Amino acid sequence: KVVAVIMVGGPTKGTRFRPLSFNTPKPLFPLAGQPMVQHPISACKKIPNLAQIFLIGFHEEREFTLYVSAISNELKVPVRYLKEDKPHGSAGGLYYFRDMIMEDSPSHVFLLNCDVCCSFPLPDMLEAHKTYGGMGTMLVIKVSAESAHQFGELVADPTTKELLHYTEKPETFVSDLINCGVYIFTPEIFTAIQDVSMHREDRANLRRVSSFEALQSVTSRALPMDFVRLDQDILSPLAGKKKLYTFETMDFWEQIKTPGMSLKCSALYLAQFRHTSPHLLAAGDGTKSAMICGDVYVHPSAKVHPTAKIGPNVSISANVRIGAGVRLISCIILDDVEIKENAVVIHSIVGWKSSIGRWSRVQASPVMQFRYSAEGDYNAKLGITILGEAVTVEDEVVVINSIVLPNKTLNVSVQEEIIL
Ligand code: GDD
Repeated sequence: KVVAVIMVGGPTKGTRFRPLSFNTPKPLFPLAGQPMVQHPISACKKIPNLAQIFLIGFHEEREFTLYVSAISNELKVPVRYLKEDKPHGSAGGLYYFRDMIMEDSPSHVFLLNCDVCCSFPLPDMLEAHKTYGGMGTMLVIKVSAESAHQFGELVADPTTKELLHYTEKPETFVSDLINCGVYIFTPEIFTAIQDVSMHREDRANLRRVSSFEALQSVTSRALPMDFVRLDQDILSPLAGKKKLYTFETMDFWEQIKTPGMSLKCSALYLAQFRHTSPHLLAAGDGTKSAMICGDVYVHPSAKVHPTAKIGPNVSISANVRIGAGVRLISCIILDDVEIKENAVVIHSIVGWKSSIGRWSRVQASPVMQFRYSAEGDYNAKLGITILGEAVTVEDEVVVINSIVLPNKTLNVSVQEEIIL
């Protein structure tokens, strides 16, 4: 048997995703019309002998419990949400729930970050992992040398694919091969995590006997014993020890830390639907339904006027109303939004229950589309416009490259502004 664990983090983790993570936990934010976490969940369905999927995080239980029971029924695979009382780190969280994860004595455990967007080639990873014979295999990809520092950089043996060297977000360039945040392990991973926290305890005890002062200066910086990071504490020290191997993907891969990236990832998942789930993509010729161009998702409950023109890269969530003559390009329209006649929305995310007036424009300059600073600072020039929840844009108002926080009404046009 095989089980899969998806790390969903918690409210202190999704801060760069504001204002979209104020009311909806980031893992449930829709990409291509499905919650972010549903894309890895659907990919897990393809793993042979999959027994269970666990989501581990420290988000409030309520929303996740509702979501996991719905998706378990839909996919006919048991999905459970396990809530940590506090953050334990990406490996510590896994270790914390080891008894539940190992309940059915699985031979392999998949571990996935929820904030990555890729094709999740899990069955191929499993096959490769079995031939390598190590403790773990990680998905890796080549990226541009300029962007590599935002990720874990690594060196792998070109023939055996063994992980030889690993550094998490290094300041000086190591390699353009990076960690995708998707792993498969044998149960030996639990012993490896336990060793890290035991060493930490030993060191803390040593300090305690050696000097009170040393203890004070060191433990203030030291991590709690049960906080273990997969990258720094496990991957770095085990590189070059014939325990970890790499599997390189040639498909798409992106990390989803900012709202701007969610627009790009929505496009990638919509494009993937062409091969995996074409029934989810809208088709329309402007006669009875709206004119559709490119990849578009429209929730069945949304009402779109036949004279509207939609796409490419548009996803429209539940109960949205789109008026006559509306034009939508590259945007995510969240639940219960109303877009009135002849409004235009381009390169934007429109928050839940917002309303956009007649002849209004909500847009970003396409040249800067998807640009975001490495620090994830959304004050930096964005190339995206984001309306938080319940924002009203009145008739004939133009909103360009701006972020509007929830519950605001705009009655004058704005450009390059953050409306607090
Ligand atoms: N449950 C739980 N508890 N989840 C956590 C915790 C925790 O204490 N800390 C982080 N996570 C989750 C996050 O939600 C995310 O899905 C994943 O673990 C990794 O998050 P971080 O540890 O913050 O690392 P990162 O996203 O900056 O970078 C990692 O992923 C990159 C790929 O996306 C590193 O492994 C990089 O090397 C890698 O390139």
